Amino acid sequence: MVTIREMELHGRVGVVTGGGVRVGRSIALGLASAGADVFIHYNRSADPAEETAAMARDLGARAVVGSVDLSDPSRAGDLIDLATEQLGPPSILVNSASGFPTDTIGDVTLGDWRRTFDLTLASPVFATQAFANALEDDVEGAVVNITDVRTHSPYREHFSYIVAKGGIDTFTRAAALQLGPRIRVNAVALGVILPPPGEGDAYATRLAEELPLAKVGGTEPVVAAVLSLLENDFVTGEIVRVDGGGHLV
Ligand SMILES: NC(=O)c1ccc[n+]([C@@H]2O[C@H](COP(=O)([O-])OP(=O)(O)OC[C@H]3O[C@@H](n4cnc5c(N)ncnc54)[C@H](OP(=O)(O)O)[C@@H]3O)[C@@H](O)[C@H]2O)c1
Repeated sequence: MVTIREMELHGRVGVVTGGGVRVGRSIALGLASAGADVFIHYNRSADPAEETAAMARDLGARAVVGSVDLSDPSRAGDLIDLATEQLGPPSILVNSASGFPTDTIGDVTLGDWRRTFDLTLASPVFATQAFANALEDDVEGAVVNITDVRTHSPYREHFSYIVAKGGIDTFTRAAALQLGPRIRVNAVALGVILPPPGEGDAYATRLAEELPLAKVGGTEPVVAAVLSLLENDFVTGEIVRVDGGGHLV
């Protein structure tokens, strides 16, 4: 018989940024299904965040919501304070909140660039710093960053976003190096998972036609990858692609 050594998620406190909607919601519910208590962060989606918390409670978890505007990275540590006040110190952090602005190297302004980097790169960095500082002695922690498989084959029209996500990839490796052995830091790189906000299913289905696995991912395979990275205690600095093989074409 093979004994698998893994980090037990049951009874832990997890923080999920952007946990009220779409990918973040699924990750929050995945954590709740695995027995963790969840702090569901939101910015504008107060009602969907409350709905997510109710769904997590139905799964048996303690679940609370809290709003932080992560366009200001100096507030990222508030996530950890709010979670700690309501649920106790977190030992899991999933950085999923992000913008998805449309710009190119030709038209991006310095202001746009800074806004994208503050939300999509600086806030995950400073949330992770606060998480590491607050982690209780003798507790192992794990961070999963949500990145984009297109950091290796950049979009033509989401320039500042994909450069910031490239920063998330490097941040994942640098933080894994610096925060070990107590904290593991990994990432999941998403491909065609859901149509972007405002686009219908046909948009994603059209993109998926090009993929080796010829389908839209949906959020379940993302949740499976996040849980696996959280549980596997000999993996750090890894970036797992969940993209239907999209990186091959
Ligand atoms: N969907 C895909 O197929 C796909 C593909 C590649 C990568 N990804 C990555 O996967 C993650 C989730 O994607 P998604 O499509 O589910 O995201 P989404 O629908 O675009 O939602 C963005 C999330 O970020 C939060 N957010 C936006 N601005 C914020 C701010 N100023 N402060 C705090 N939070 C803010 C939103 O919170 P509120 O709604 O509460 O405002 C929301 O939860 C992102 O990191 C994205 O880059 C997704």
